[in-house]
Amino acid sequence: MPPAQPNRPAADSQADPGVGNPTDERANNRRAPALAPTPTVAQAPGSDRDRSAPPLPTSLDIQSLSAWFDDHKVVADITMAIQARQVTALIGPSGCGKSTLLRCLNQMHLTIPGARVRGQVLLEGHDIYEQGVDPVAVRRRIGMVFQRPNPFPTMSIYDNVAAGLRLTTRRIPKATLDAMVERSLTQAGLWNEVKQRLSGAGAGLSGGQQQRLCIARAIAVEPEVLLMDEPCSALDPASTLRIEDLVRDLKDTYTVVIVTHNLQQAARVSDQTAFMTIRTEGEPGQLIEYGSTATLFTSPTDKATEDYISGRFG
Ligand SMILES: Nc1ncnc2c1ncn2[C@@H]1O[C@H](COP(=O)(O)OP(=O)(O)OP(=O)(O)O)[C@@H](O)[C@H]1O
Ligand SMILES: [Mg+2]
Repeated sequence: MPPAQPNRPAADSQADPGVGNPTDERANNRRAPALAPTPTVAQAPGSDRDRSAPPLPTSLDIQSLSAWFDDHKVVADITMAIQARQVTALIGPSGCGKSTLLRCLNQMHLTIPGARVRGQVLLEGHDIYEQGVDPVAVRRRIGMVFQRPNPFPTMSIYDNVAAGLRLTTRRIPKATLDAMVERSLTQAGLWNEVKQRLSGAGAGLSGGQQQRLCIARAIAVEPEVLLMDEPCSALDPASTLRIEDLVRDLKDTYTVVIVTHNLQQAARVSDQTAFMTIRTEGEPGQLIEYGSTATLFTSPTDKATEDYISGRFG
């Protein structure tokens, strides 16, 4: 049976057509695709924060999220609240769907032909999968940094950082653009290294510098959330530590979600950790345990988490 609409699972479309399906009354009744911020509050399951402490605001509220590549369901029914201005690490064995989940958080998953998604991702209360929401607007608010540094190869350092701003904002005065480029490069810890060579090629920087340039490019448009998919996996140890320092600094301003295979890194940089795995071969990846990093690493509640963090599996 063909899918009820592009990017939606055919098999499940009878049971739950999903947000945005034209036949879905809920979607038809919603008329606010502008993603206006309406803060909600929630606490991560398993969090060991003091019960008397006020709950942290939720930045991204993921509800019953599943993802497919054609008929292959790779992520099943993920529900988790990502807390604002915290670093949340996604860990789990290769192929369990970490990157797919991450890419669902800013609609990047849907850029792959045949890729589909069901469920909701509420950005400060508004579903990014609601009908009519502009993916460019979503990605302006939920930026992404990839595994391999990918500066625009023909652009200068300056133009790499300015690229997103030029795309999303019309007619920015030169002085304003200059200030935004400097601010972004400073926040990414790169300004002092490149301020004398802004017109030089972005691709001429070292790997670690290129990754910080990509971070500068991502934060130049002032997103609320920064998604990072193994941002250090192509870097040497010194550059890795630099990016880790940066991630810890970035959470003063941004909500960070980081995928990593490096458990020490997850422990060093994150406040919350989510462990995903595939319980049975051939099944989709699922969220097994999610809570404060300290608790998850010292007293996991699920045997699969314990096996993974102790190195017995994955
Ligand atoms: N473009 C694609 N087309 C088809 N299937 C894909 C595609 N990308 C990923 N998959 C499949 O989706 C599943 C989840 O992959 P994903 O890349 O999300 O896992 P991961 O946990 O990030 O793995 P890794 O740790 O190796 O990066 C895997 O079975 C993978 O083969
Ligand atoms: Mg991956």
